[in-house]
Amino acid sequence: MFGLRRNQREANRQGGRKHHLKRVIGALALIFVPVGVAVPIGVLATPEHIRLPTGPDQEEPGAVFSHWTHGQYGCFTCHPGLFPQAKKTFTHDEMEKGMYCGACHNGQSAFAPDDTDCETCHRE
Ligand code: HEC
Ligand code: HEC
Ligand code: HEC
Repeated sequence: MFGLRRNQREANRQGGRKHHLKRVIGALALIFVPVGVAVPIGVLATPEHIRLPTGPDQEEPGAVFSHWTHGQYGCFTCHPGLFPQAKKTFTHDEMEKGMYCGACHNGQSAFAPDDTDCETCHRE
């Protein structure tokens, strides 16, 4: 009876230690990840949604990019290589060559623009 309780307490204590270790790792990640990633780019505020400027004669509203829905990527996946943070417009032809959004939206890593409702990106 008491032996059982003691075993249980021992088990709890070990569980607690594991939990503690997880918390320490979590805290380290919190300290190091943002410092490494956020300082070079994150000195500027990161807007959640960005409407890209439209090309000449474009009827569709400028495509909207969401940092929120692309949060699985690190900043350096896109900055400064694909998007040097100077908002500018570009074309579907360029995307089809693998530039800008087309680095991923090529029908492999992510849906291709041509196979998708225009409003998915060109939304009001
Ligand atoms: C994956 C997102 C995405 C989808 C889906 C998409 N576009 Fe675009 N499109 C863009 C981006 C980004 C630009 C560049 C910014 C802008 O001009 O809005 C662009 C630019 C354009 C332009 C101006 C440049 C050019 O290539 O002529 C037109 C016109 C256009 N899109 C039409 C369409 C039409 C029509 C559809 C649906 C058949 C469509 N787009 C679907 C992302 C998309
Ligand atoms: C999947 C690609 C992608 C990722 C990942 C990404 N961004 Fe962006 N970011 C963009 C695009 C597209 C734009 C709009 C075009 C531009 O300004 O270059 C943009 C614009 C910005 C801007 C300028 C906003 C403005 O209004 O001009 C900042 C600041 C920024 N991003 C910071 C970040 C930070 C910090 C991270 C990581 C937490 C990040 N981005 C991750 C694609 C991305
Ligand atoms: C580094 C890769 C990468 C880049 C660059 C990228 N995307 Fe995406 N995007 C993705 C992936 C992956 C998804 C999820 C695709 C899926 O669910 O099939 C996605 C989803 C989306 C969605 C649907 C979710 C939402 O936000 O409504 C839109 C719209 C979109 N991307 C637009 C864009 C536009 C516009 C650009 C360029 C300005 C861009 N993306 C650049 C990888 C990328």
